[in-house]
Amino acid sequence: MPGASTPSSYATTSPLKATASVLVLGIADGTVLGLGSAKAARTAVDDAARAIEFSGKAGSTARVPAPRGFSAESILLVGLGSFDPAASSAEALADSHEVLRRAAGNALRVLGGTSSIAVALPTTTAEAVEAVAVGVGLGAYRFLEYRSQDESKVPGAVTVLGPKGRENAAAAERGAVIAAATNRARDLVNTPPLDLYPESFAQIVADQGKDRKLKVTVLREKELAAGGYGGILGVGQGSTRGPRLVKVEYRPKRAKRHISLVGKGITFDSGGLSLKPAASMEDMKSDMAGAAAVVQALFAIAELGLPVRATAWLPLAENMPGSSAQRPSDVLRMRSGKTVEVTNTDAEGRLVLADALADADAEKPDLLIDVATLTGAQVVALGNRTSGVMGAEAARAEITASAKIAGEEMWAMPIPEEMLSGFDSTSADLKNSGPRPGGMLAAAAFLQEFVGDDANWAHIDIAGPSFNTGSAFGYTPVAATGAAVRTLIQVAEAMD
Ligand code: BES
Ligand code: MN
Ligand code: ZN
Repeated sequence: MPGASTPSSYATTSPLKATASVLVLGIADGTVLGLGSAKAARTAVDDAARAIEFSGKAGSTARVPAPRGFSAESILLVGLGSFDPAASSAEALADSHEVLRRAAGNALRVLGGTSSIAVALPTTTAEAVEAVAVGVGLGAYRFLEYRSQDESKVPGAVTVLGPKGRENAAAAERGAVIAAATNRARDLVNTPPLDLYPESFAQIVADQGKDRKLKVTVLREKELAAGGYGGILGVGQGSTRGPRLVKVEYRPKRAKRHISLVGKGITFDSGGLSLKPAASMEDMKSDMAGAAAVVQALFAIAELGLPVRATAWLPLAENMPGSSAQRPSDVLRMRSGKTVEVTNTDAEGRLVLADALADADAEKPDLLIDVATLTGAQVVALGNRTSGVMGAEAARAEITASAKIAGEEMWAMPIPEEMLSGFDSTSADLKNSGPRPGGMLAAAAFLQEFVGDDANWAHIDIAGPSFNTGSAFGYTPVAATGAAVRTLIQVAEAMD
């Protein structure tokens, strides 16, 4: 499943000498940054920006002919907004890295079809170089698999320019790995459910895992039945395309700690017999964004050679209202042994996650994270760009701190104790749909019933952030965004 990919490399060439067709330069407060002591060149670029009233507002770009003294043919000015080149607090540094990611992303988004691009944004540290490389890789993303023309919109080769030193070249390489993982997650989410269903998703993971010499185990319906995976089977039984549970393992020798990642993988969520209205169903191919994020984060963790044991669990099912579909009032016997009355077949994510969480928790990892497009209530509570993080205090803190560094908006939310009684059932241990108020928190309370009390577990609801139904911005395209991939990689990095 080849997504459009733009090759990138790292060089320490002076921006003036870069022979690209477009040189990308950053402007903050009407002044170009990143040209060092080249005074005449700086003045020429500042004059060009002033002539077109380009002040450097974040998100803005403008193309100008390259002034005398530059080897490039033209210059793309990108706004850095309130960029603080002297940032020193951890918070301010993270903000400045995000400014760089977005600026690079904006540049690559508008440079479709350009044959050669050199990016000379202001970087003095390896972290800043990594941020630019991530923004370049993400901004270059195009999903063209299902278009008959349009090939020309892919940007050509990109060179990231920055300071000398092996650590900077390595940082650019890391940034490219992180962006590629995010882009593979985007490809999976953007792929229509006609082609991406549990079996084909599992096959892609098996192939990509094999390329990376990782152990991939796929449980099919027979094995799921033998293992008592009532949640995954119940959700999957309304579709002709049966469910799967995929496990991917990365076990480096020197690992001391173990992170487990569980991702909701509903390849299409029609709602089941509790059918969704047409407008709510339109983007439900994206209901496997959690599974896509965790598996691609794991692949990146392996590619980066991080010394952390990592396991990904992908419960995959298509939630359809076929004649064999589960019915409201059916009772499922879950993998953990608990029973669940299905009062709403559209609350299916928690059912498949419950089974996978039980298995993941049984291995007693040091950190257990599930990622899911779980509730519409997430969008109501936090909007389209901020994911909700619920669970154990320590796990929540590790995730929100890593999200800040990775440049993703994630916010800690509670699981109020009164939520659980909303799942009281008249026939089973609990029912699957609870009270509407605080729906995101209620869903987390349900999941908590399937992990041990002492588990260092947190749940990330990415319902809104995983799929951009508005316009593209920064390094975020329309449709699949790859939400949570960067944060998960950073969490693993911080565990080292
Ligand atoms: N996949 C949806 C949640 C969702 C909604 C994701 C919008 C992305 C955008 C989930 O399976 C669902 O249908 N949740 C229900 C739960 C309810 C029935 C308790 C919801 O949020 O309405
Ligand atoms: Mn649903
Ligand atoms: Zn769903």
